Formats: sequence, C-alpha cells, structure tokens
Amino acid sequence: MKKRRIPSQVRVGRSSAGLGLFATQPIAKGDFVIEYTGEKISSDEADRRGGKYLFTLTKDVVIDGTGRENTARYINHACKPNCEAEVDEDDMKVRIYARRNIASGEELTYHYGKEYWDDHIKPHGCRCAQCAR
Ligand SMILES: C[S@@+](CC[C@H](N)C(=O)[O-])C[C@H]1O[C@@H](n2cnc3c(N)ncnc32)[C@H](O)[C@@H]1O
Ligand SMILES: [Zn+2]
Repeated sequence: MKKRRIPSQVRVGRSSAGLGLFATQPIAKGDFVIEYTGEKISSDEADRRGGKYLFTLTKDVVIDGTGRENTARYINHACKPNCEAEVDEDDMKVRIYARRNIASGEELTYHYGKEYWDDHIKPHGCRCAQCAR
C-alpha cells in the first residue's frame, strides 16, 4: 500500500464543503502547492467508475484521484479560488499553484471547471465562500 505523505505546507481539516485542505504556512503567488495524483484511466473507464475524484487530463485520459495518498483530493472548489490547477500534457501531470499570496490557515481552493461544477456542485448548491455570502 502506498504511504500517504502530506506535504508540510498543508493540512486536511473541516470546511464548509466537507473535508478541505488548508495552508499551514504562507504560500506565495505562483508557488507550486501540490500535485493531483492517481491512476490514469481512459475516459470510458472514468465514465464507468464515476465518482467525485476524477480529474480530466486530456479528452482521452482521466486521473482517478480516489486514493488517500492523493492529498490534493481534499481541495474544494471555489468560484473565486486562491489556487489554479494546471494540466501539463507533456508529462501528463496536474499541478496546483497559488494564484495569489495565501495566508497560513486559509483554505486552498481551485475552480473545478464548468463540466464538473454542473454535474457535481450545482445540483446541491455551491458552498464556497463567495456563494455562501
Ligand atoms: C475532490 S472532492 C473535495 C473534498 C471533499 N470535500 C471531501 O470531503 O472529500 C470534491 C467534492 O467535494 C464537494 N465540494 C467541493 N467543493 C464544493 C463546493 N464549493 N460546494 C459544495 N460541495 C463542494 C462535492 O461533493 C465534490 O464532489
Ligand atoms: Zn461558489
């Protein structure tokens, strides 16, 4: 079994949308935060599996980030997020970067994209800080 190693600059905690990921130290704009990892599967297989931890890498390849070793799976969606997820199609990795300076203790968020939002967030209502106001 793969060991779960949580990077020291983040911690898992309770948020308005279930569990979330929080900064344990200041993170500067542009800094790499964490990689979204997991099994790479075809989009057909992703359709079969379903679930909320699927991240679309390309039109044919999806990362199944269900495994607990994927600490990035705890990052929630926000409509005005402090991080962004960047897909690198050259090395087929998803990396999450800070889009602004983040203070210690802030919840980390990125925008999940329209398709995921329509399928998984909209039906139950978005609970991000902007929408909850
Ligand atoms: C990748 S998981 C994020 C971690 C999740 N909160 C948990 O406890 O495991 C994505 C799921 O979290 C929930 N979620 C994330 N952001 C949300 C938001 N802004 N509003 C409501 N639910 C959200 C939805 O159930 C979504 O399918
Ligand atoms: Zn929102």
